[in-house]
Amino acid sequence: MKRFETKTVVITGGSRGIGAAIAKRFAREGANLVVSANEESVHTVADEIKADGGSAIAFVGDVTDKASVKALYDAAENAFGSVDVSIQNAGVITIARIEDMTEGEWDKVLAVNTKGVFLCAQEAILRMRKHGRGGRIINTASGQARDGFIFTPHYAASKMGVVGITQSLAKEVASENITVNAFCPGIIETDMWAYNDQAWGKLLGNYGPGELMKEWVEGIPMKRAGSGEDVAGLVTFLASDDATYITGQTINVDGGLIMS
Ligand SMILES: NC(=O)c1ccc[n+]([C@@H]2O[C@H](COP(=O)([O-])OP(=O)(O)OC[C@H]3O[C@@H](n4cnc5c(N)ncnc54)[C@H](O)[C@@H]3O)[C@@H](O)[C@H]2O)c1
Repeated sequence: MKRFETKTVVITGGSRGIGAAIAKRFAREGANLVVSANEESVHTVADEIKADGGSAIAFVGDVTDKASVKALYDAAENAFGSVDVSIQNAGVITIARIEDMTEGEWDKVLAVNTKGVFLCAQEAILRMRKHGRGGRIINTASGQARDGFIFTPHYAASKMGVVGITQSLAKEVASENITVNAFCPGIIETDMWAYNDQAWGKLLGNYGPGELMKEWVEGIPMKRAGSGEDVAGLVTFLASDDATYITGQTINVDGGLIMS
């Protein structure tokens, strides 16, 4: 029997990058997937899972909108009967000097990265309470939840907020056999990192495409960027029966970049 057979996993930010890799890993291990994002290409990820013999539906929605979040969890219950694992992974970043950063950028990053985690976790916990078998809430933070980086005060605040949400909810639902944990990816090769490389590279000096990332990767003790699969290994562990006694924790998955 595969590890997650009979389990339903909801994931946000599943149309590409880290979220798509996590979704595909859970599907290979037998879970029913509800793959969600705010772009139509999320259907492609669900189709790829099904073509590979897995079980998945796609849902296009916005994690900052309460009605849309409720509809996501309704869709999960309608398709598969319950929600066992909820992975709050949708995220956005912008990079700007303090004098150029707009109030709109602040509001958007906090809305997606922090309020979005709260709204999805809230809805997931309500669904887990209905079936009474417990569950797993897993939130995507960042290395910036440990160590805020230059030109991204809103992103650092949003991801430190994710750690706060994780600890607070973990205490509230621990007695219901629902665990709440977070993970901090380091440098993972995705569309987001392609933007980071270009935008930080421009503000930090005259870096050509890929040059800043190369420099930063040289500073990682393991000397390589991470992949979605590296992250999926940790996330599936946190959702598995091997992690029943782990809650309220935030775990780095970064090749040793930050040791805490
Ligand atoms: N790539 C990295 O190196 C890295 C490092 C640390 C943390 N993270 C975090 O990991 C997560 C995934 O990052 P990624 O690199 O795969 O990013 P990505 O840009 O490749 O994908 C982002 C995903 O979030 C979705 N999304 C954005 N806004 C949304 C909204 N309002 N509603 C619903 N979905 C929305 C997008 O559709 C997409 O699926 C994010 O939370 C990010 O902050 C990434």
